[in-house]
Amino acid sequence: MTTTLDSGPSDDLGVAGARRRGAELERSIRERPGTFRALTGDRPTGRLHLGHYFGTLQNRVRLQNLGVEMMVLVADYQVLTDRDVADRLTERVEDLVLDYLAAGLDPGRATIFTHSAVPALNQLLLPFLSLVSVAELGRNPTVKDEIAHSRQSAVSGLMFTYPVHQAADILFCKAGIVPVGQDQLPHLEVARIIARRFNNRYGTPSNPVFPEPEALLSAAPLLLGTDGAKMSKSRDNAVALAATADETARLIRGAKTDAERHITYDPVARPEVSSLVLLAALCLGRDPHEVAAGIGGRGAAALKALVTDAINDHFAPLRARRAELAGDRGHVRRVLRDGNARAAAVAAATLAEVRTAMGAVY
Ligand code: TRP
Repeated sequence: MTTTLDSGPSDDLGVAGARRRGAELERSIRERPGTFRALTGDRPTGRLHLGHYFGTLQNRVRLQNLGVEMMVLVADYQVLTDRDVADRLTERVEDLVLDYLAAGLDPGRATIFTHSAVPALNQLLLPFLSLVSVAELGRNPTVKDEIAHSRQSAVSGLMFTYPVHQAADILFCKAGIVPVGQDQLPHLEVARIIARRFNNRYGTPSNPVFPEPEALLSAAPLLLGTDGAKMSKSRDNAVALAATADETARLIRGAKTDAERHITYDPVARPEVSSLVLLAALCLGRDPHEVAAGIGGRGAAALKALVTDAINDHFAPLRARRAELAGDRGHVRRVLRDGNARAAAVAAATLAEVRTAMGAVY
């Protein structure tokens, strides 16, 4: 279904290069999945929605099932980059873990963990900060964008330095691949630069401490929120994975469409209608042009009915699993405790290597 994929602004060399390397990486992963460790994660700021599912969650589960070792980070410290307090953090962290588990991440194979519980990961931040200049931090386009959209009156030091912390997220476990969206590419570049500089300063050419991680840009479908804007946790325009069938119906019924009755799939000229068509197509595993043709002159109401049923059918098993897991918070906490212990052991081993390389062993 190549027509469903958002190729993004491919005139940007960073993105085009990452896509090309991503295709090569995919081939190597399929040949030798067991040799790869992947790290990725999310800020625990609310329940995940269908955009997250089709954009990243599904891909993580796919990689896990291929045999790639998955490290999945609940980035609880990173939540504080653009807000003063991490509101209802426990609940949000547990909600995120429930979404992961319901989507098919298997804690027996994947390590699900939080920043704050892995001390040695956080300690890597100190030597890493010494490897980047203030000017470099100031040039990071994703950080600049977040500062521009921040509702805070002052930019915190964490906002400025969180990409270095994110480098520690990636490097503490020496992840070779980082499945992310293209907004994260500048951060991945920071991680690569830090790996290289650390190795140059403290390693030996034959024995580098850190591998340089590679982005695995997944071809995320371009799904819009029900208001026609970018689907977002904070805009109330997204169908949550955990939404009920009725909530889903209500949200889709209120979705923006356009004045033309005949339904077609044309993401450029008709973004709102096409996003609904695409959502149905993704749930049904069908081509969006065919889905649109199937509705034809029956109009937006018929399209919305189809989308609602497609979502509710497709996600019924996931939602049932999630509801069952939500009834056992003890299980969620155990998953995190085990993941945190595994991540802490990996981080401690890496920090020991770092300290040895730096001559900081007393
Ligand atoms: N910055 C990512 C986001 O906002 C979350 C994140 C934190 C992450 N650490 C990471 C992603 C390390 C990939 C690798 O979505």
